[in-house]
Amino acid sequence: MTNEMIIVLDFGGQYNQLIARRVRECNVYAEVCPYTISLDAIKAKNPKGIIFTGGPNSVYDETSPHYEKAIFELGIPILGICYGSQLMAYTLGGDVKTAPVSEYGKTDIEINTSSKLFHGIDTKTVVWMSHTDYIAAVPIGFSITGQSSVCPVAAMEDASRNLYATQFHPEVMHTVDGKKMISNFVYTICGCKGDWRMDSFVESKIKEIREKVGDRKALCALSGGVDSSVAAVLMSKAIGKNLTCVFVDHGLLRKNEGDEVEAVFGPNGNYELNFIRVNAQQRFYDKLAGVTEPEKKRKIIGEEFIRVFEEEAKKIGAVDFLVQGTIYPDVIESGLGKSAVIKSHHNVGGLPDCVDFKEIIEPLRQLFKDEVRRAGLELGIPEYLVYRQPFPGPGLGVRIVGEVTAEKVRIVQDADYIYREEIEKAGLSKGIGQYFAALSNMRSVGVMGDFRTYDYAVVLRAVNTSDFMTADCTEIPFEVLQKCMNRIINEVKGVNRVLYDLTSKPPGTIELE
Ligand code: XMP
Repeated sequence: MTNEMIIVLDFGGQYNQLIARRVRECNVYAEVCPYTISLDAIKAKNPKGIIFTGGPNSVYDETSPHYEKAIFELGIPILGICYGSQLMAYTLGGDVKTAPVSEYGKTDIEINTSSKLFHGIDTKTVVWMSHTDYIAAVPIGFSITGQSSVCPVAAMEDASRNLYATQFHPEVMHTVDGKKMISNFVYTICGCKGDWRMDSFVESKIKEIREKVGDRKALCALSGGVDSSVAAVLMSKAIGKNLTCVFVDHGLLRKNEGDEVEAVFGPNGNYELNFIRVNAQQRFYDKLAGVTEPEKKRKIIGEEFIRVFEEEAKKIGAVDFLVQGTIYPDVIESGLGKSAVIKSHHNVGGLPDCVDFKEIIEPLRQLFKDEVRRAGLELGIPEYLVYRQPFPGPGLGVRIVGEVTAEKVRIVQDADYIYREEIEKAGLSKGIGQYFAALSNMRSVGVMGDFRTYDYAVVLRAVNTSDFMTADCTEIPFEVLQKCMNRIINEVKGVNRVLYDLTSKPPGTIELE
């Protein structure tokens, strides 16, 4: 596929993915590249434009990321954002200074609307600032196109060389006209036509896979989650029965989920493919018996998953391709640093070395999650599957605090089912980022009828989040929570208390383990 492309050159900014998504919302393909990418590699990608991201550094720090000056001579339009704007000014001979106080948050600025970047926007607008350093003097050939009361150069440009820069962040929602600015950059300044569309992506991907695979065979680990489902359907449309999907039921799925996946992908389902369901529930429960430490549980589930998958793959024999549902955020190589591992995420993505295959196919490698969903709809996958909430690879294993047993799985499945049913009924499901029931490891005394009980406490959790990195507890109406509590206590044996988790992330995480 040869789409028009914008390169997002990552200098360690926290919004690098957001910039790429904003560009893609304009129907233009964007790729995030680390600032260490060579000039030749950039040229080889033949981008229509380049965006420098922000970053935490000062251009004067010894270790701060820079880029060779020759990038400004390629004739490719460049937009520098925040640190990227300072880097542009500094590299081209302007002056960058450190302010005594940072400028942070929503800021009123005045812009020059004859700039192509600001075309169609009011002179006075509100933008999002987050900086301490600022451009004190623009390089020769540049003019100032935006100012705030404290920031002398909120925007600058050298239109003759197609170089543009904003001290503020057009990619964040708080910059009121940010979308328009990005769209002006990609359409008016870079001359893109907008050829990145999901219908043509799906069509050309199917063609590309068909040509690549021919009549050879491919194997796919299907979890029933959005990514692997979309990957499987795309593959099945391309190569039909030459695709085999292995679905491992590890006994840690939501209630009825195994059957639901089988109904869609199995022999009576909607697609032409070979479907193998492995019922490995007991095997996982045996491995998890007596294990209480969260990271150890995750490891066991991940490893056992691979073993089961390998055994099934061996029965099938050699295949040419292994299909993985990897998506774009998983493959972005960041500009700077690595964040600390809070939890070792297990996905069906990280699959075995020892399955006998020649090549990996990752049909969704270029897509963000919302694009995967749009591709899923294009492919005719039912909405309830496409809009499924994220479900962790280790499944209910990380929603049962402490030791996992078949009995605890049954309790959490039944409680979760009721919770989801009531949230749906109350019409709240679409507005909540993620919600589920979990099982605390707490047993406490209660009274039911005239009898003492000593049973488990179920935890209900619901969060609002845009990126799953941070989250806030959702305010669910009290009467809905009470209804859930009543039903769970009455209908789920082994539960005598229901708690609602108010914790945001941070300090909590979304899952309990
Ligand atoms: P946490 O609990 O880390 O969750 O705040 C953030 C998001 O990631 C999901 N999650 C996982 N997803 N494999 C996954 O594929 C995992 O091991 C895993 N652990 C957590 C979680 O459901 C939430 O959406």
